[in-house]
Order: sequence, then C-alpha cells, then structure tokens
Amino acid sequence: MGFEEFKEQLKSTVDIVHVVGEYVRLKRVGGGPRYMGLCPFHTEKSASFSVHSTHQFYKCFGCGAGGDVFNFVMEIERLTFWEAAKSLAERYGVPLPKRSEQADEEAKKRGGIFEMHDQAARVFRDLLFSPAGEEARSYLKRRGLSKETAEEFGLGLSERGGQSLVRLFEKHGYSHEDMEASGLILRRTDGSGCYDRFRGRLMFPIHSESGKIIAFGGRALAEGDEPKYLNSSETAIYKKSHVLYNLNRARKAVQEAGFSILVEGYMDVIGVYAAGVHNVVATCGTALTNFQVRSLRRHAGDLVVNFDPDNAGANATERSIPILLEEGMHLKVLQLSGELDPDEFIKENGPEAYVHALRNARGFFHWLADRTRARVDKTTPDGTVAIWQALLPTIQKMPDRIMRLAVVDDLADYMKMEKSVVLGEVRRAVSERSGHVKRRQETLPDANEVLLLHALLDSAEARQEITPVLRQLTVLERFQSRAIFETILRMIDAGEAPSYTGLEGRLAEPDKERLAALVFADDTLSRDFTTEQAVACVRKLAAGEREARRDDLRRQIKDAERAGDLPSAMRLLEELGRQGKN
Ligand code: UTP
Ligand code: MN
Repeated sequence: MGFEEFKEQLKSTVDIVHVVGEYVRLKRVGGGPRYMGLCPFHTEKSASFSVHSTHQFYKCFGCGAGGDVFNFVMEIERLTFWEAAKSLAERYGVPLPKRSEQADEEAKKRGGIFEMHDQAARVFRDLLFSPAGEEARSYLKRRGLSKETAEEFGLGLSERGGQSLVRLFEKHGYSHEDMEASGLILRRTDGSGCYDRFRGRLMFPIHSESGKIIAFGGRALAEGDEPKYLNSSETAIYKKSHVLYNLNRARKAVQEAGFSILVEGYMDVIGVYAAGVHNVVATCGTALTNFQVRSLRRHAGDLVVNFDPDNAGANATERSIPILLEEGMHLKVLQLSGELDPDEFIKENGPEAYVHALRNARGFFHWLADRTRARVDKTTPDGTVAIWQALLPTIQKMPDRIMRLAVVDDLADYMKMEKSVVLGEVRRAVSERSGHVKRRQETLPDANEVLLLHALLDSAEARQEITPVLRQLTVLERFQSRAIFETILRMIDAGEAPSYTGLEGRLAEPDKERLAALVFADDTLSRDFTTEQAVACVRKLAAGEREARRDDLRRQIKDAERAGDLPSAMRLLEELGRQGKN
C-alpha cells in the first residue's frame, strides 16, 4: 500500500469529531455538521474552536489554529506527522505501510525512544512479578495496593545491578548514543560504559494523553534512600511541564464527572483511582503549568485541588491558584482532615469518606482567605490591608466577570465590609490589569458566497448545475472570496472533485482563513440546501448582474440622447434589447 493510499484510507476511517472529542468537550451546533468547544491551543473562555464533520477539519477563530485530523493529533500530542498517523492507525485499526519508507530521521529517533520505553516497562513489570520482586510486592501490599491496581498502572521494579536495560537495548541493536537519548541509560563519566538510570526502585510508567509510555517515576523502596522519587529527565518524547500523570486513564472520567482532581503524588493518584474515583491526575514532581491546566480544561472546566496538608502542599496550592484562574478554571480546594494526604486519608477513612469530602470541598477563595487570616490579625487595620493585598491579585487573575462577582459577595461577607465598597475595589483592580488579548475581528461572510461554496463542495449535482452559470458571473470578481471560487473552478477544470482539504492546500493564508469562516458560517445558510436553491442563487446573481448592466445601458442611452448622438443611442438601444433576451 502506498503512503497516499494509506493516508486516504486513514482519513476515511477516522472521524475527526471523534478524535478531537477525546481531547476537547465538543457541543454539536443545532444538529448540523458543526461542533464547537474551547480551543485547546490557546486560552479562551468562550468557544471559538470549531470542528466540521462533513469536511473533517478543525479551525479556531481565536488563535487561527486549524487543519485536518493529522494536524490536530500532531499539535495536541506534539508528534511528527508520521507518529500522528501511526497513532491514529493503531487506534482505528488501519494497517500501516512499511515504516522504513516513511519515517524521517527525527521520527525514527523518537520511535526508538518510544520502543525502548515499552521494552523497559515490560522488563520492570516482569521483575516485579518474579521471585526477585517479592520484597517490592510486599511493600505494595503493606501500602494496601492490590495486584490488580499494580497491573492497571503498569507498576514495575527496576533491577538493582543497573545492567538489565543496557543489556536488553544492546541486544536490540541500539547504540550507546540512542540509549542515552532515551533518558533510561546513563554513561559513566570515566568512559567505562553505561548503566541503568533506575536501579532497585518501584517503577511508575508515565503516559502521554493518548496512552504511550513516555517516562518513568521511580520510588525508593528502602527508607532513607535518596531521592525518594527519581524521575525521568526530559527527552525528545518527554516534556515534564506538559504532562499530567494519569491523564490518559482519567480523561474520560473527567469529562463524565465534569471536574478533575489534582493531587500531588503518584501514590495519591493510585490511591484515589483505586477507591473508584477515576478523574484524578498529578503533576510529575514539578510546579503546575498553564499548559497542564489547559489539558485539563479541555475535558472539564471545574477542578478540585487536593494537595498534601503540609506546608509544602499548601504553598503549592497557593501557587497553583493564579495559574488555574488565569486559564478560566472554576476551582475548589480540598484540605483533608487529620493532616492526611489523599492516599492516607482513603486508607484510614475509606472511599466513601473521600467522596464525601470531595463533595464538600470549598471554593478556593475561602481556603485562601483562611490561610491569609491565619497569618495576620484581621482585627487590626494592618491585618485588613494584608488580607486585601493577599486576595486582590488573585481576583484580578479571574478572567470571568461572573466568577468575580460571586467572589465579591464572599469577600464582603468575609471582610465584614459593604458589598459596594468591595465591588469598587475589585473593579479598580481589574481595570488595572493589562495585557488583555483581543479577539480577532470577524467579518460576516456574504450569504450567497456561503451557499455557493457549500453547493460546490458538498454536491456533485449542484456543482454540475451551477458551474456553467458561475463562470460567466462578473460579480464573482467582487466576491470577498473570489480567489476561493476561482480555485474551485480551476480544480473542476482539471477534473478534480473539490474537497475541503484539497482546496485549502491550494490557497494562500488569508484565503484559508476566509474559507474556514465561510464553511463555519451560520448553519441555517449552509445546511440542507437543495440543488434548486443553489441554482436559484446563481440565477439571482446572474439576473442582478444583467439588471445592473441594463441600468448602465439605459443611463448611456439617456446621455447619448441628451448629447444628440442618435447613432450611438440606437446602437445602445439594440444592445439593451439583446440583453433583455438573455
Ligand atoms: P510525596 O513525597 O508526597 O510522595 O511527593 P507520594 O506520591 O505521596 O508517595 P508516598 O506516599 O510517599 O510513597 C509527591 C510527588 O512529588 C514528586 C513525585 O512526583 C511525588 O509523587 N517527588 C517527590 C519527586 O519528584 N521527588 C522526590 O524526591 C519526592
Ligand atoms: Mn504520600
């Protein structure tokens, strides 16, 4: 099978709405071919991201991102074209053509790293469930982690000697350079060879959102072993600040529950998940980033932060709040009683108690206010100022006006102040906020252009009926989307059926934007049109054009008569007669 053939087969098998829907909550617009959601590629609070099921492409009118299903997977998973195609083919059961012909150097290198991670995960898993894994297994048991859960999370054990991966990769023909690039193998500084990065640790595979193993976290098994957790370094396939632990398993549950739970550690994720609460993720030992928040917000706009109750956890919570607000998340903070982290809490109190606590989590604002109050004396004027200073910047970060107003109520109550005073302060603070991103100017597409474009793209019958008329139209020259129509006509001339992507590929940048705008224009214009309507539309345009031409002739005749130029007047009159018959 040739590559083009493979690409076409894949495109006809995979529905872009389904693929995008795994990453973005999409709403269908009025039963039509168009779906909308919040753009995963930039921060926005009203949806300008659209997916078109007939033409199988996506477009964001806020940031301009757009393309077909391959572009989407490449962008969102940060993959090369080949990797995206491969991942889609695997997910949708389309056989792959021989990869050696296709992969470029970069993709080959990354492919090798993915492969090494799969092999490593297998080796770790096998060791954990072998006799040599006895001690590690009893550690898991002590921590209340069942065999099923260990298997579900792909937990493993790295061998103490530090040679098992090196040997395996050598056997598979990887060079030392390849091995080092995987992040799994380190080279001795004295040049005497290589050894495994992870040795004698409990291994947690870290997956990309689509479920590929891209890194590991390794927990020390012996008390006092430093560091407690050793994590993969960044590689060509792993960027810490972009990844959330467990998002691959959690994303469906997040969409269903309408919120996600953010915890601090791998063990917390596993504990919460095993308790039947599946919408839980963690960062991998780094501070929360905007990118990670966006990858959660694509699935749900609400979030509960449930970090450890110690000081480090509280500080991390406080740091994460502005980032979450900035991205337009609605957030609550859950601080569990008894100084327990989520994993310990569930062990101690059971899953029901955790679900109960989750339901009663308080708005972030209360948590923040209490925390500030604990530090200052609210009864003194200085204390009041301190609380203001602590809370206002956070409120400033909230992009949503409604959310801000809700907080004003809370704040007034909390500060025992007049609501109007608080509102005034908040307004002032917000208007000082700068760096607001403006939405792009949108011009409304012309209704005729929308209808004709859909007719030409969607229906062979309409295409046949209207192209002859269309070719003669001089109004075409005045269309905003003139270049688009001319390109379509050229494609038809060349005997090609004009598809959306085929067309898009031939257009320059501003026309690409225009095309997307036309295709996503008001559904009532574009949906369920009949060939008759399309024909009527070109006829109407043609008639309008003839009428304009006749008006022009009449004017010229009058001018000629007034100037006493009878021969010209006669000639023009004849011409007018001919026009009327057309
Ligand atoms: P914790 O120390 O809270 O670990 O660190 P934990 O996940 O609750 O594990 P247990 O219950 O002690 O076994 C929280 C997270 O911080 C990162 C890890 O991602 C860990 O899951 N971390 C912690 C590191 O990256 N390195 C460390 O040395 C410690
Ligand atoms: Mn813990």
